Order: sequence, then C-alpha cells, then structure tokens
Amino acid sequence: MLSGLASEIVLIDANQAKAEGEAMDLNHAVPLAQPGHVWAGKYADCAGAAITVVTAGSAQRPGETRLDLTTRNTEIFRQIIPQIAKHNPEGILLIATNPVDVLTYASQKFSGLSPRQVFGSGTILDTARFRYLLSQHFGVDARSVHAYIIGEHGDSEVPVWSLANIAGMHIPEFCAFNGYNCNDPELENIFERTRDAAYQIISRKGATYYAIGSGLLRIVEAVLRDQNTVLSISSLIEDYYGLNDVCFSLPTIIDRGGVERVLHLELDPTEIEGLRSSAEVLKSTIKSLHL
Ligand SMILES: NC(=O)c1ccc[n+]([C@@H]2O[C@H](COP(=O)([O-])OP(=O)(O)OC[C@H]3O[C@@H](n4cnc5c(N)ncnc54)[C@H](O)[C@@H]3O)[C@@H](O)[C@H]2O)c1
Repeated sequence: MLSGLASEIVLIDANQAKAEGEAMDLNHAVPLAQPGHVWAGKYADCAGAAITVVTAGSAQRPGETRLDLTTRNTEIFRQIIPQIAKHNPEGILLIATNPVDVLTYASQKFSGLSPRQVFGSGTILDTARFRYLLSQHFGVDARSVHAYIIGEHGDSEVPVWSLANIAGMHIPEFCAFNGYNCNDPELENIFERTRDAAYQIISRKGATYYAIGSGLLRIVEAVLRDQNTVLSISSLIEDYYGLNDVCFSLPTIIDRGGVERVLHLELDPTEIEGLRSSAEVLKSTIKSLHL
C-alpha cells in the first residue's frame, strides 16, 4: 500500500474482524501514500490476483525453533492452500509462514500448482541481515555489499563467504587491499548474529515485522514488474549438488511467472557440506509430515 505497487489488496484472515480492522486502518493511510484499495475478503476473492502472500498461522514463541511450528502450521495450510489454488489457479503463491521451507514444499503438494508458481520468502531476510551486518562492519552502504545466505531459513542456514564481495572484491581481498583486518573476531561472529537475529528480536518485541515486510515487498515488486531480479528465495530444488525434492533457498531469478531459474553457485567444500546438512534437516521434517 505504501509503495503503490498494487492497485488492490485483499486481506483474508480466520479472524474476519481483525482483517476488517486492518483494512480500515490501512485505507486511512491511502490519502497520505499512494492510490489503492485495501479490503477484507474471503478465499473466493483471491480470484485473478497476480500474487497471494500467505502469512497465516501461528508465530514463533520465545525460545521456540521455527521447526517446532511445523505440525500446527501444516494443518492450517492443508485447509487454506487448496482454497487459494482453487480460486486462483493462474496466480503466484508466496509463502512467508514458518517454517517457510517446509511449508513451501507442503504448498506445492496441497495446491497442485507448478513449481514455478509456488515459492517461499526463504532467506531473503537472512541475506538482508547478513549484508546489513557486513555493511556496518566495513562502513559501506548495505546495497554495495553482495553476499547470500542459502539453505534453510533457520538454524541450519549457510553463509556463502566464498562469494561475498564488495566492489567486486572477495572479503579477504577487500580487507588486504583496503587496510581492514579480516581476522577480526567481530567479523567471524557476523554469521552467528545473522542466524540468531530472529531469536534476539522475538525475545525483545515478540515478533519481527519490518524487514520481512520489506523483503516480501521486494519479491512482489520483482513479480509484478517482471524484473528478473536475483533474490534468495525458497523453491523446489532439483539436481543441485545431488540434492532433490526439497525446498530451500538459493539465489533465484524472479520474473512475472515466479521462479524463472535457480542459479548454480560455485560453492567451496564446506559450503556444499553445509547445504547438504541443511537439506537433510528439511527432508527429515518433510518426511515426518506424511504429506
Ligand atoms: N519467513 C520469514 O522470514 C518470517 C518473518 C517473520 C514472520 N514469519 C512468520 O509469519 C507468520 C505470521 O507471523 P505474524 O507475526 O504475522 O503472526 P500473527 O499471529 O500476528 O498473524 C498470524 C495471523 O494468521 C491468522 N490465522 C491463523 N490461522 C489461520 C487460518 N487457519 N486461516 C487464516 N488465517 C489464520 C491469525 O488470525 C493471525 O491474524 C509466522 O509463522 C511467523 O513465524 C516469517
């Protein structure tokens, strides 16, 4: 609504009164933002939507891992995803509810839509956190830092240090040629701070809102404007370093049709091993769900 990207936004929630209240509150900002219409609807109102962003479900509680949420949220998805797909078979499904990788996989099964149409926000947020923390460390605009977190959006996620770069220079070269200390312990704990950021925020304010909202907006923009943007999102993985039939995040080209292509990365052996472990964690959870 603030960006003016969509002319119409329908809010659907099990708590209809909440959706109505949110729509009223949001509409009152329209004169101060961009023309648009926000309203509370039902699943039938998904018909014709370019994209449906699914955030319904239980939130992570303090101290709870994302995978703990799985069973509760899978049952919710079993109810709602077929209804969205029935009313909007041509639209894109963007999953944000956690555990996002498992629920993206479940949504593929429950919707019957093509893998191109169904994907999750994945590590778009973790990648943003990683870039932000690196940017703070080096005193560079975060938009000039290029680095990815891949794998699970969660505890087993993997930082791709070998490809991280600033001004086209890998981090060790950037340090060596520009007078930074690459052995600084603070640099080493940037990944831990990235991975554990959600726990840190949830313990302070109960949930995360703004960065994930911005990440979802960025994905929606790439779709609606057919931008071919490379974003780290979660989609169905086939034949990636021998990994198959699981959803996790990799840099992916996003266009009007959704997942255009998952990019192949030249990873180092530690990163490949990390990705394999991450895929194993996700696969064993998916298996336990008997989808
Ligand atoms: N992927 C990410 O990076 C990321 C980041 C932040 C939050 N999340 C996840 O997003 C989800 C939502 O978080 P939140 O803070 O907005 O939680 P919230 O509790 O504020 O909102 C969840 C909403 O889902 C609704 N809901 C519950 N069951 C439903 C059903 N069966 N049908 C329709 N609506 C239903 C609730 O009424 C509620 O309004 C959580 O799973 C959270 O972990 C993901």
